[in-house]
Amino acid sequence: MANNIFGATDEYINELFGLHDDVMKATEQSITDADIPQISVSLNQGRFLQMMALGCRAKRILEIGTLAGFSTIWLGRGLPAGGKLVTLELEPKHADAAAANIEKAGLKDKVEIRVGDALATLKKMVAGNEEPFDLIFIDADKPPYTEYFQQSLKLSHPGTVIIADNVIKEGQVFNPENNDDPITGVRRFNAFLGNCKEVQATIIQTVGEKYHDGMAIAVVK
Ligand code: SAH
Ligand code: DHB
Ligand code: MG
Repeated sequence: MANNIFGATDEYINELFGLHDDVMKATEQSITDADIPQISVSLNQGRFLQMMALGCRAKRILEIGTLAGFSTIWLGRGLPAGGKLVTLELEPKHADAAAANIEKAGLKDKVEIRVGDALATLKKMVAGNEEPFDLIFIDADKPPYTEYFQQSLKLSHPGTVIIADNVIKEGQVFNPENNDDPITGVRRFNAFLGNCKEVQATIIQTVGEKYHDGMAIAVVK
């Protein structure tokens, strides 16, 4: 893994801050054991999400795309006592693995997994006047990223931080020849974000043990 400068730097950071803890090791193992896709955020991206939650003093966090709970656990670790995280997942198999991992992490009382199509769940949450969230992490299927973001805006307040994973995809988002569904979905989202008057936003490139990508970061005005 650490046979290049980016992987080696990730490993250096992981060691410095003790990110390879038992809970994360067990979560990684559960992904291998249940044959779940290996598409979680990296350890230090997870840590970054925790720092963002702490930095904006998030009491309520919304995650779209749980998988096995790897990013959920990092976000949950950024919550204070009494904080709450709602995470949305389509696949019952992923939700079951996540529930077990979240329990092992001691976050059962703070985290609620809602199983079903995220866009339908988000619309239900908006219709039900769900209390706004302080931090929102978008990381589910890519074609409806714009719609996830639009619904997220309706579940936000001024100052809410919205982070979206995988918005560069090794530069494929600005390769006009690539019109695969996930790429066009993210391309459409980035264009929307660039013109969105309701937020101030940017994208940071991400490198590391995972391939080259980027995370969009928006703050609601
Ligand atoms: N955030 C996770 C990774 C999420 S991977 C982590 O970093 O640990 C994307 C997840 O979105 C997968 O679990 C997939 O099943 C889920 N997903 C795909 N389409 C979805 C939809 N329409 N609604 C909700 N979840 C969906
Ligand atoms: C994929 C999805 C992700 O959220 C990710 O971080 C990496 C890859 C994918 O669907 O391939
Ligand atoms: Mg992702």
